[in-house]
Amino acid sequence: MKELLLFLSCVLCVSADGQHSDIKIAGCSDSYGEEMYGLDGEEKAYADFNKQEMIYPLPPFVDPMTVPGAYEQAVANQQSCQQNLKIVLYFIFPPLIAPSVMIYTRDEVEFGENNTLICHVTGFYPAPVNVSWTKNEQKVTGSSINTPYPNKDGSFRQTSRLDFTPQLGDIYRCAVEHLSLTEPLTKIYEVEASAHSDPGVGPSVFCGVGLTLGLVGVAAGTFFLVKGNECS
Ligand SMILES: *[C@@H]1O[C@H](CO)[C@@H](O)[C@H](O)[C@H]1NC(C)=O
Ligand SMILES: *[C@@H]1O[C@H](CO)[C@@H](O)[C@H](O)[C@H]1NC(C)=O
Repeated sequence: MKELLLFLSCVLCVSADGQHSDIKIAGCSDSYGEEMYGLDGEEKAYADFNKQEMIYPLPPFVDPMTVPGAYEQAVANQQSCQQNLKIVLYFIFPPLIAPSVMIYTRDEVEFGENNTLICHVTGFYPAPVNVSWTKNEQKVTGSSINTPYPNKDGSFRQTSRLDFTPQLGDIYRCAVEHLSLTEPLTKIYEVEASAHSDPGVGPSVFCGVGLTLGLVGVAAGTFFLVKGNECS
């Protein structure tokens, strides 16, 4: 693993002028950094990040050719190497972020009135998700899904829609598959009695109730009217 990271983030420059071969390595992993210059198979200089200086391992009688600012350059190289490493890692080992799922209807639910179920999936990385639907545990087809749309934080969102006609007691389920999930994440929508009745039935029921209450009122009024007359 370490070696893989180091290799990926290594900047390796080899040049040959015919007589000498130069090598420069600037590399890093998440826990290691290296900056080294070599000539003709010999290590001429390397950065010691603990001692915070360049080390010239050749004996002093060999001209070490010290370069001013070499250590500062090595530190700067390490910083950009770490930066590149993060980007490379992000692509190779993308962070998996699980989605959150909401299910709701497009319109207020009226029994027997065409409507659309919406399964809103957001906050996941990477894209995309798969969304499938069931009605009373049976697979249903005919749903649609939009393409992944980026959120501000770099995660994605997607929305799946299923046209449906609400019938009391029907249970719909949207199941979301994503790389981050070992099993689908599901949300349930149950058509409940709290939904509005079909408007064709509703007003006549309310009229009926109103008329009954009115008649009760008239009866009660008559009763007290009779009682009152008895008292006088
Ligand atoms: C309701 O949906 C069904 C099937 O999706 C369709 O055949 C019908 O025409 C729709 N009715 C209305 C009033 O839109
Ligand atoms: C989505 O479905 C396709 C086809 O069934 C499958 O190859 C792919 O792995 C699924 N994606 C996810 C994230 O589950």
